[in-house]
Amino acid sequence: MNAPQFWTIPPSKLSPSQLAEKSQALTERLVSICKAHNDVRFATSLAAEDMVITDAIAQAKLPIQFFTLATGRLHQETVDMVKTTEDHYQIAITKAYPEESDIQAFIDQYGINGFYEGEAAKKACCGARKIKPLNAALLGADAWLTGQRREQSTTRTELNFAEHDDARGIEKFNPLFDWSEADVWAYIKQENVPIHPLHLKGYPSIGCEPCTRQVKQGEDIRAGRWWWLQSNSKECGLHVNQ
Ligand code: ADX
Ligand code: SF4
Repeated sequence: MNAPQFWTIPPSKLSPSQLAEKSQALTERLVSICKAHNDVRFATSLAAEDMVITDAIAQAKLPIQFFTLATGRLHQETVDMVKTTEDHYQIAITKAYPEESDIQAFIDQYGINGFYEGEAAKKACCGARKIKPLNAALLGADAWLTGQRREQSTTRTELNFAEHDDARGIEKFNPLFDWSEADVWAYIKQENVPIHPLHLKGYPSIGCEPCTRQVKQGEDIRAGRWWWLQSNSKECGLHVNQ
């Protein structure tokens, strides 16, 4: 049989007791965040890491609100995952939409898919479709959570569990910062977590449809994100501390 052409879900490298320890530590991290803050919100993209955090929040019934950035350029599978996740966990996920006028201004200046033309246009599109809605979704919160991991990217190797989000003046937590890709998938298997269907089609990392593609076996897991740009500019600004 030929080797698979695209990325596939990695096998677990953890023993059952190591996985149980990791899961327990994740719950403890989330509980500690809730104890120290009044209004905690979780930004979910519906990709694997975020499904792990969703599962841990739901299992522990923690008072954390869920929201997703409904950019208007997501795959249909991502849109459908919102409902799948809400139904599975009996939770509500708020959709943060961009402003119509910001999208129009972007299209007028760059064209609907202008982000392929360069860094400035990509930044403007992510600014309108992601950053501004993120800022609005976090108004009133005193902490937020992300599914970022150190291993994901050369831009994330220094990531910590807790950081101060200077741009929004609140705390930001990355409860999976020290998890490996295999740890994420071991948890998903163990807890029967619903997964985004594109993970079964060669997509380890999922963003907007026009800016995400499949990754070949052995390629970097973020190689399919903004593939026309250098790896050190593969951040959309959601996690840039300005
Ligand atoms: S990105 O900055 O390159 O798009 P990535 O896809 O790695 O980010 O996801 C990192 C984290 O950013 C996710 O775990 C999630 O917390 C947040 N995030 C990314 N995209 C979205 C989205 N569309 N809605 C909500 N949160 C998101
Ligand atoms: Fe626009 Fe692509 Fe950024 Fe989505 S990921 S907001 S389509 S540039």
